[in-house]
Amino acid sequence: MSHWPISPASEIGPRGGGLWTRWLERLERYFSDPARYDRVRSFALTRWMARRRTQQLMGVMTGFVQSQVLLLCVRMKLFELLAREPMDLGALARLLSYQEGPLRCVLESAVSLKLLRRDPSGLYTLGELAHPVLGHAGIRAMVEHNQLLYRDLADPEAFLRAGGKGHMAAYWPYAQEEGAQPAMQPEAQGQSAAYSELMDASQNFVIAEVLDSFAFDRHRCVLDIGCGKGRFASELAKRWPDLQLHVLDLPHVMSLTRQRLCEAGLAGRTSFHGRSFLGEPLPRGADLCTLIRVAHDHPDHVVQALFQQIYQALPAGGRLLLAEPMALAAQGAAQGAREADPYFHFYMLAMGQGRLRSVGELSAMLQKSGFSAVETVPTAMPIHAQILLASK
Ligand SMILES: C[S@@+](CC[C@H](N)C(=O)[O-])C[C@H]1O[C@@H](n2cnc3c(N)ncnc32)[C@H](O)[C@@H]1O
Repeated sequence: MSHWPISPASEIGPRGGGLWTRWLERLERYFSDPARYDRVRSFALTRWMARRRTQQLMGVMTGFVQSQVLLLCVRMKLFELLAREPMDLGALARLLSYQEGPLRCVLESAVSLKLLRRDPSGLYTLGELAHPVLGHAGIRAMVEHNQLLYRDLADPEAFLRAGGKGHMAAYWPYAQEEGAQPAMQPEAQGQSAAYSELMDASQNFVIAEVLDSFAFDRHRCVLDIGCGKGRFASELAKRWPDLQLHVLDLPHVMSLTRQRLCEAGLAGRTSFHGRSFLGEPLPRGADLCTLIRVAHDHPDHVVQALFQQIYQALPAGGRLLLAEPMALAAQGAAQGAREADPYFHFYMLAMGQGRLRSVGELSAMLQKSGFSAVETVPTAMPIHAQILLASK
C-alpha cells in the first residue's frame, strides 16, 4: 500500500486551479451580468454555461428540501415497504394514512432524487439511491440525527450569534468541556450512551476505509483513543489476530467498550482505560495510536495537546494514524464531493468547539508536535474519511 507525502501544493487556495480555471471564472463573471442573461441563454455556444450555473445554484438553494424528502422516506419506512412489494399512490395512501395529494408530493420528489422509481403503470419501486439507505442502518440513523442540526440552522443568523450553541450541542456533552476530565453529570451519562450508539451505527464506512487502506502488520500494539464502544478495535483485532490492543475513552463510554470487547472474546488481548485523553500521560506500550473521528470534535489547542501527548507516549519509530473527514474543497475535490464540506463545517460548529480541518492544517499541527514525517494514506472514499499517518 503506497502512502503519499504531503506538499503545500496539495492545498488549492481560493484562486488556485491554474489558467483554465481563472479564465473560466472571468468568463463566468462576464456572462453573469444580469444585462447579458437573455443573450447568454439564447445563444447556443453560451447556453451550457448559463444552464450549468443555474443548475448548481438551484441545487444549493434547494438542498434543505431534498434532505427533508429523504427524511420523510426514512420516517415513513417507504424503502422497506416498497422493497417488499411495489405499490401505487392509492395503496400507499391507504396503508400510511396520508391524503393522496401530499403523499404524491413526497413520492414524486423522491422519484426526481432517484430515491424511488415510478413505472409506466404508476407503481413505485426503489430508486438507485434507496438501496444504500435501506442497506445501512447507520445512514438512516444519521438522516434522523441531522434533524438536530437543521433545527439549529432554522435561524442561521441567531445560531451564529449564539456561537453555535443549540440542540446539537446538547447532544454532545463532552464537546462543550475544555477541562482535562470532562465532567460527566448523570444526565450526560445517558447522552454518552446515545451518542456512542449513533457512532457505532455510523462507523462501518470509516472502519472499511481504514482497514482496507492501511497494513497494520508492521505494528505490535495499537492504542485506539476515543474508541467509542470499541467497534473499530474489535474489527481490527479480527483482521489482525496478532495485535495487542489498548482502548481509551471517557469512563461512561468505557463501560460499554468493555462489554463489547469482552463479549467478542477480546478481553485477554485488550487493556481498558476509562479516562480523558488529556491531563495525565497516555498509557505506554503501543507502537501505533489511532484517532478515528476524534480530532475534529475539539478546538485547536486541545488537538495540539493531544498530538503532543501521543508523540510522547510512542516509542521511536511509532506512528499515529488519524482518520476522519477532512476539508475536501481545500484539496480541489470535484463537484459532488466538495459539497460535503459545508455539512461538516456546520456540524462541528453546532456540536461545540471542534472544526473541519484540511490535510494541510492537520499536517502542520502534527509536525508542530514533533512528528517527523506526515503522509496521506489514500482511501477509496475520501468523503467518509481521509487518513494521515505521522511517524515519530
Ligand atoms: C465522534 S466519537 C468517535 C468514536 C469512534 N472513534 C468512532 O469513530 O465511532 C468521539 C469519541 O471521543 C470520545 N472523547 C471525547 N472527548 C474525550 C476525552 N477528553 N477523552 C477521551 N475520550 C474522549 C467520546 O466519548 C467519543 O467516544
